[in-house]
Amino acid sequence: MTNGWGETKTTIQCVENGPYMVKGTVVLKGDKGEPITTMAVMSLCRCGGSKSKPFCDGTHSRIGFRSNKSGQA
Ligand code: FES
Repeated sequence: MTNGWGETKTTIQCVENGPYMVKGTVVLKGDKGEPITTMAVMSLCRCGGSKSKPFCDGTHSRIGFRSNKSGQA
């Protein structure tokens, strides 16, 4: 199975001034080890402002989140 970029590995890409874009199969767990339902393509919050953590809800745009460089957390 390939991810959304035609690769067979799971990939995580920092989106400039935005979330981590995850493509591929992952196991995601909460702080108590509980499983969190995932999708083949999903965005994880990097700004800390999402009300749907660990997922991005678009808040980064509203609060003006800026990353130093794409690819760096
Ligand atoms: S990165 Fe999108 S809400 Fe935090």
